[in-house]
Amino acid sequence: MSAARPAVAATPEIVIDVSGLTKSFGGRTVVKDLTMQVRRGLIYGFLGPNGSGKTTTIRMLCGLLTPDSGHGTCLGYDIVTEADRIKRHVGYMTQRFSLYADLSIRENLEFVARVYNLPEPRKAAQAAIDRLGLSNRADQLASELSGGWKQRLALGACILPDPDLLLLDEPTAGVDPKARREFWDEIHALAAEGLTVLVSTHYMDEAERCHEIAYIAYGQLLAQGTVEEVIANAHLATYTVTGPDLPALANILKTRDGVDMVAPFGAALHVSGRDARKLDEATRRLREDGSHVWRVDEPTLEDVFIDLMSHARDNFA
Ligand SMILES: Nc1ncnc2c1ncn2[C@@H]1O[C@H](COP(=O)(O)OP(=O)(O)O)[C@@H](O)[C@H]1O
Ligand SMILES: [Mg+2]
Repeated sequence: MSAARPAVAATPEIVIDVSGLTKSFGGRTVVKDLTMQVRRGLIYGFLGPNGSGKTTTIRMLCGLLTPDSGHGTCLGYDIVTEADRIKRHVGYMTQRFSLYADLSIRENLEFVARVYNLPEPRKAAQAAIDRLGLSNRADQLASELSGGWKQRLALGACILPDPDLLLLDEPTAGVDPKARREFWDEIHALAAEGLTVLVSTHYMDEAERCHEIAYIAYGQLLAQGTVEEVIANAHLATYTVTGPDLPALANILKTRDGVDMVAPFGAALHVSGRDARKLDEATRRLREDGSHVWRVDEPTLEDVFIDLMSHARDNFA
């Protein structure tokens, strides 16, 4: 642990504890009455389509943006009145790469270490280089790195000051699948050491790698919990349908009362309804006429999100 690290009370059991956060820009509410809690040591996934308010929420959590209303704490500090203290203990990886393109990995990390006033910036930079497996590339310019390695460097800069909480805003957007997987392995390794991580993403497969998730659309937090809880709480009855001409079948189904969601998944159609009996009635004839294979199935997380989002859109409109 570095000497520059400010004395801090032990990280509280609930690292993020906010309620009723609301924020408007130019008269438009972009985060509405958001309440969430994140327990220490968890990887908490923040999911939602573009423009749903993820970045705005993250900025309110670390004191960069003041909510119009609502209150809460981050790492035990008040998000409105103690923003400076929060910033000292949080590593925030912004959505855009924000290091120097014309400095090498090593130079970037040493620079960040100096900004944080770490006592031995060179050693700190070397430790981050070793930690994230960057040594072969340490003297390469940041501008020459691929997306995946850039993100690794940005993560290295984030953990330099030894934070208690990482806020990662879409860290894997535009990164190839292999690099994404390695990035997630690293997030898990950090969490295993006791770091709490809040990570926003719109990749569904990444949700499965989080201990808990929250889903936000149109500024509203629509669901939270473990992936299993979120799926169970949606109470969605689902069929998987295979057979000929699924697009035509989808068009028929979409107009039926009792069918709330129809979505293609590979070579199959997922057909869901919030009321299992209504769904059964709406689809009985089609299920019995034998032209397709209907199978009762578990809804996927994506089914649930699509359904939640269509709800939210209705409320929004
Ligand atoms: N500083 C700002 N001024 C005006 N509008 C903003 C500002 N920041 C974000 N917005 C708007 O708020 C909405 C939510 O944005 P954001 O929080 O960035 O969503 P996400 O990160 O989920 O994509 C968007 O419609 C965006 O255009
Ligand atoms: Mg964003």
